[in-house]
Order: sequence, then C-alpha cells, then structure tokens
Amino acid sequence: MQERIKSLLQEVEEFSATDKQGIETFRLRYVSRRGIIGDLFEELKQIPAEEKKVVGKILNELKQAAEAKLTILNEQLDSGPSQTIDIDLTLPGIPNTTGNLHPLALTRYRIIEIFERLGFNVADGPEIEDDWHNFSALNFPENHPAREMQDTFFIEKKGTTGTQDILLRTHTSNVQIRLMKKQKPPIRAIMPGRVYRNEAISARAHCFFHQVEGLYVDKNVSFADLKQTLFHFAKEMYGKDIKLRLRPSFFPFTEPSAEIDVTCLICKGEGCVVCKRSGWVEIAGAGMVHPNVLKNCGIDPREYTGFAFGMGIERVTQLRYQVNDLRLYSENDIRFLRQFHTSDIA
Ligand code: PHE
Repeated sequence: MQERIKSLLQEVEEFSATDKQGIETFRLRYVSRRGIIGDLFEELKQIPAEEKKVVGKILNELKQAAEAKLTILNEQLDSGPSQTIDIDLTLPGIPNTTGNLHPLALTRYRIIEIFERLGFNVADGPEIEDDWHNFSALNFPENHPAREMQDTFFIEKKGTTGTQDILLRTHTSNVQIRLMKKQKPPIRAIMPGRVYRNEAISARAHCFFHQVEGLYVDKNVSFADLKQTLFHFAKEMYGKDIKLRLRPSFFPFTEPSAEIDVTCLICKGEGCVVCKRSGWVEIAGAGMVHPNVLKNCGIDPREYTGFAFGMGIERVTQLRYQVNDLRLYSENDIRFLRQFHTSDIA
C-alpha cells in the first residue's frame, strides 16, 4: 500500500491541466471523497494498527498534496494567459467603413455655399407639380411650341382620363413662381432639386436630373448683375482662369435670355467629346425675369426687375470631376461612388 501511495504522490505532483475540464478530472480522480484517495482511507481502516500509523501519515501527506495541487491549478487558470478564449490579438483589426456623399450632393453643397455667401437663401418646391406652376405662370401659353422644349411626363388623375394638369416638373423654375407668390421682393434665393424629362437614357441625357434655380428680384436688378453673379460663381467653382460665355437664347419666362457656357475643363478648350469639340460647355440657362411672370405672381414689373438662372448639377459635376457618362450617377456602383470625398465640398 505504501508503494501505491508513493506512486500516486508522484502522479499528483506531475499532473498538469490548462483548462477547467482537466482540473475537474483531477479533482474527481484524487480530491473528491469518492476518488482514489478516499478509497485508500477506506482501506486504511482494515490494516493492522501498527502499520496504520505510518501508512496513515503518508496517506495524509498525499491528501494534502492533492488539495494543494488543486488550488494551484485553479489559480493558474484564473491568472495565467487565457488559453480558452480563441482570439489572435496580432491579427489586423476590422476597419470601420465610413461612407461619403454622392458626387451630385457634393456639388450641390458647394453651389449652395457659394451662393449663400452672396446672400441667397435656399428654397424648395414640389417635384409633382401642376401645369400652372411648371408652364402657364412661366409664360408658356397653352399649346405653344415652347412647351416642346421639355418633353414632359404627365400624371393622369384617377377617373379623369385625358386631362393633363399634373406632371413631374421639367425644371426647378416652378419654385420661382411659388416663391414670388408668397414672398414680396427683395427675393434672393437658390432652389436645388430633381427634375424629370421624357428622354431616352444615354451618356448625355437621362429621364431625371438635377438643377439649381436662382432668382434675384429687387429694384434695379440688371443683366450686368446676372453676368457678374454667374462669373463669380464659375470662378469660385472652377478657379480664377475659367472663362464665361453668354449666347443669346430663348425661354418664355426670361427676356432677354441666354445660355451660359464655361471653358471645357476636360480638354482645356481644345475640343473633346464632352464639349462636342467646341471648347465650351453649357452649364445654365438664364435671363431677365419676363414682366408677364412677375405680373402672374402679383409683382409690379414697373417697380421691380429680376434675373433668373437654371443650372444643371450633373453638368457642373461632370466638369468638376471629369466624368463623361451621365448614367454613372444613378447606377450606384460602389467603385464609382468611392472616388468622391466629403472634403471636396469646400
Ligand atoms: N428652366 C430652364 C431649363 O430648364 C432654365 C432656365 C432657368 C432658364 C431660369 C432661364 C431662367 O431649361
């Protein structure tokens, strides 16, 4: 029996366990009352009294050794490097993916910023509009061919087939009307928003796009104010070297009217696909607010004059970022969108 106890003592001393399960095995095998040591105490009762003293002593030592070992094993588990949690701290972390603004939003914010510094407010209006705000009040007579300049999506009201009163706005000029109806001059506002036209989708045209309308109505507003305002805008947006060109044009709601061109930044004026080899790109339509429009909104044209412009946000963005296919803006391709940075606003 003494031999068995000695070899058990050695076993106990050499035992090692690094997880909870190993320690529990040790406890059950040696320390618990039903374990090996417990059995030996039972056996001890049967041996002759003179041997009992010696065997009892070493058996007690074994018991203490096993208990001490159990304490040590538990302490090691609590304080040592945790080997049961399966993570590798040397692996690279999972990066935080932060999004960024859409290139059209970046341009819109930049445009707003430039005009706000000139004292323009930002106004908003509906995308689903009635004929009056989109056309009639803007001096488009009914059945006038000028309406054909803008291929329109009409909306049929339930039960009223044939009436063409509700439509998706074809330009942001409807907001000019809404503003002048509810506000007395001086009015100085820009109106960004989405517009819709029934166009076949291609690199150069889409069935929806974005504009920023501008309106300045006050006493003595002149064409020179219009030109200087847009020239200032172009320089702020594209740099001091940009050139501005005004071409005579026609819009029913402005007189005189002009198309605003800037030098093509993609080819630096040499001629490319974006500027149709002309070196110039049209970014806006503009003109002096037609007296009929002022009258339609209850403003006296003998007292007040104003200028208005409508700028294409896609066009301004295309030149800014050298993108030459309009469709990219609405395809949601992450490889395209990732290239624009929020810091570009200013
Ligand atoms: N609304 C015109 C268009 O979409 C642009 C424009 C706005 C022209 C304001 C003159 C004045 O084509």
